[in-house]
Amino acid sequence: MRTAICERLGVEFPLFAFSHCRDVVAAVTNAGGFGVLGAIAYTPEQLDTELTWIDEQVGGRPYGVDVLVPGKVDASALDGGARLAESIPERHRDFVTHLLSKYGVSGPAPVARASADELGRRVTAAGATGLVEVALKHPIGLIASALGPPPPEMVAGARAAGVPVAALVGTVEHARRQVAAGADLIVAQGTEAGGHTGEISTMVLVPQVVDAVAPVPVLAAGGIASGRQMAAAMALGAQGVWCGSVWLTTEEAETAPAVKRKLLAASSLDTVRSRSRTGKPARQLRSAWTEEWDAGQESPGPLGMPLQMLVAETAMQRIGQAAERGEPGAVELANYFVGQVVGQLDRVRPAREVVYEMVSEFGDAVERLARLSR
Ligand SMILES: Cc1cc2nc3c(=O)[nH]c(=O)nc-3n(C[C@H](O)[C@H](O)[C@H](O)COP(=O)(O)O)c2cc1C
Repeated sequence: MRTAICERLGVEFPLFAFSHCRDVVAAVTNAGGFGVLGAIAYTPEQLDTELTWIDEQVGGRPYGVDVLVPGKVDASALDGGARLAESIPERHRDFVTHLLSKYGVSGPAPVARASADELGRRVTAAGATGLVEVALKHPIGLIASALGPPPPEMVAGARAAGVPVAALVGTVEHARRQVAAGADLIVAQGTEAGGHTGEISTMVLVPQVVDAVAPVPVLAAGGIASGRQMAAAMALGAQGVWCGSVWLTTEEAETAPAVKRKLLAASSLDTVRSRSRTGKPARQLRSAWTEEWDAGQESPGPLGMPLQMLVAETAMQRIGQAAERGEPGAVELANYFVGQVVGQLDRVRPAREVVYEMVSEFGDAVERLARLSR
């Protein structure tokens, strides 16, 4: 299954693993796939530490880094050095307090991992610059951006370092725009994907994007967690697949145990596209959190990005800690980004095993199809 992108990136299987966990990135890369570390949660210093660790694990095999650079954010919140946290309206603060009390979530006020200003700025082009600079000092094989075109500084830096740029898209128009902005590789991500996602399914989106941006290579994302799904994506014209949800229930993933249990028990009906965690539509596990924000009578409605991220991140830390203590209300509220493939995830496996099973099932599926056409 060597495609042109395998040659270009020097990877054995065109199976890309998006993960926020360095252990998953290293395990997939060492198994012959291509791990991509999501950098959003890190400061530049922390990212440097994570990438140094990965470099030590992967013995020169290629891996990548992904940053979020939204085309549109609630810029007013970032202007004039205003403290981001102070821009959260009273109604929204009160609603969170009300939710935590309604669901009996105990514990001290959460300590934000990043200061409010840091978090807000990290999801802007300016904020991502520090992460990109750090990433390009490591021997990475790809740098990816999501939620908007890669900024010119990112493209220029990557070009100078000889690193290809990938961009995630949910429509044909976005794909054309990203290529015009300098993307070397497009990840066409369907609505069934976990995380920020559009409205078009992978089956419909991928062939349209492949045709629109040819000869630029396209990876398919969204709804791919098995070899059969991988074969289908390649049949649509993709040169490889980019998976996120399937790694959340692997041994290496740092997914909180209470959330991991919910993921393993969930069906494909248990996800929802909601603005309640980040301010932009993102597919996640349906929980009391999404229900209360999206349909609750007292809900003030989610804020934009990045303010809603801040509201949700601080509350979710407290909810997560309470869920680990087994508090039932916190377990009801707890959720995480995940796609519709969650219904296929029913056991914990090493990431390496996921790679080998997908590759083996891909081979079987292709042979079965080949027999059909004889
Ligand atoms: C927990 C989680 C977090 C994600 N965060 C990001 C992110 O920060 N940046 C990004 O480009 N994509 C992110 N994504 C989307 C993935 O890169 C990928 O496109 C998606 O998971 C593919 O669909 P799948 O979930 O059906 O495998 C995230 C996905 C998940 C499941």
